[in-house]
Amino acid sequence: MSFVTQPPAPARPNRCQLFGPASRPALFEKMASSAADVINIDLEDSVAPDDKDQARRNAIAAINDVDWGNKYMSVRINGLDSPYWYRDVVDLLEQTNGRLDQIMIPKAGNGMDIYAVDALVSGIEMAKGRQKHISFEAIIETAAGLAHVEQIAAASPRMQALSLGAADFAASMGMQTTGIGGTQSDYYMLENAEPGTPRAVHFADPWHMATVAIVSACRTHGLLPVDGPFGDFSDEEGFRAQARRCATLGMVGKWAIHPKQIALANEVFTPSAEKVAEAREILAAMEQAKADGQGATVYKGRLVDIASIKQAEVIVKQSEMITNS
Ligand code: COA
Ligand code: MG
Repeated sequence: MSFVTQPPAPARPNRCQLFGPASRPALFEKMASSAADVINIDLEDSVAPDDKDQARRNAIAAINDVDWGNKYMSVRINGLDSPYWYRDVVDLLEQTNGRLDQIMIPKAGNGMDIYAVDALVSGIEMAKGRQKHISFEAIIETAAGLAHVEQIAAASPRMQALSLGAADFAASMGMQTTGIGGTQSDYYMLENAEPGTPRAVHFADPWHMATVAIVSACRTHGLLPVDGPFGDFSDEEGFRAQARRCATLGMVGKWAIHPKQIALANEVFTPSAEKVAEAREILAAMEQAKADGQGATVYKGRLVDIASIKQAEVIVKQSEMITNS
C-alpha cells in the first residue's frame, strides 16, 4: 500500500439514480414513491430550451413540497457552457429548503468547472446561512472529461460521485453509434479460422476504458462510481448485462431513465445472498488460516489469501451498508 491510503466512499446506497425531467411535474410523486436510492430532477438535456425557466421553478417547488422520504436528492443543472447554469445554482440554493442534498454537474471537462460551481455554491451558502453543505456529483461524458477525470474527482471536498454519460461521451469522442450504452454491433472481434470456415463473433465492451478510468479516479479520491443511462428501456436483459459488467468493474449503481429499470438496478447492485454467503465463508476460512499461522489457504479448491479478505470485505460491507440504510 502506498503511504497515501484510499479514502472510503460515502457510506450511502447509490444503486439506482432515477431521472425525471423537471418539465414533467406529474412524475415527481411517482419518483418519490419509487424504490430508487437517489433522485435526479433534470434541468439539462431532457428539458427543451423554452421550458428552462418553468422547469427550474418546478424543481424548486418539488424539492420544497414533495415528501421525498429518505431519498438522496439531486438536481442536474445545465452545463457551464450554457446561459442557464448560474441561475440554476442561484435559484436552487436561494429558494429551496434544506432538503436538497446534491447538485449534478453535467459535461464536466476539468477541475476548474467544479471549482467554479463550488465558488458560487459556497458564496450562497454563506450568504443564506445554509447549515447543510450541498454535495456534488459530476458526469464524465466528454473527451476532456475522460482526459481530466482524476482532476475532476479531486476538485472539491463536495465531490461524492462520478457517472459515465454514454450518449454525450460517444458524441464527444466521435464514436460511430447512436446507442446509449450497451452492446454496439460494430464493436466486435472475429475468431481466427481457416478461410471458408465460419468465424465466431465476440462482442467487446466499448465503454470499458471509460468505466475503468472513472472507477479508478473515484476509488483514489473516495467517490462513488456510477454507470449512466441505458437508453433502450424495453431491453431488460441488455440493461442487466450492462449493469453487471459495471458492478464487476467496481461501480456501485446505475441510472434509471424509466421506472422499469429501477428494480433491475437494485437487483444487480445489491450483492446477492449467495455472494455474501461465499464472502463470509472466505473470511471464516482466512480466520482459520490465521489461527493456524498461515497467510494463505484453500477454499473450494482455490487459493485464498490476505488479498481475498479485502475482496470478501468489499461484498460484505456493501451488503451491510445497504441493509442498515
Ligand atoms: N419517473 C417516474 N415515473 C415515470 C418516469 C420517470 N422518469 N417515466 C415514466 N414514468 C411513469 C409514467 O408516468 C407512467 O405512469 P402511469 O402508469 O401512472 O401512467 C409509467 O411510468 C409508464 O410510463 P411510459 O408511458 O412507459 O413512459 P412515458 O412515455 O410517460 O415516458 C420517457 C418515457 C422516457 C420520456 C420518460 O420515462 C422520461 O422522461 N424519462 C427520463 C428522461 C430523463 O430524465 N433524461 C435525462 C437523463 S438521460
Ligand atoms: Mg448528457
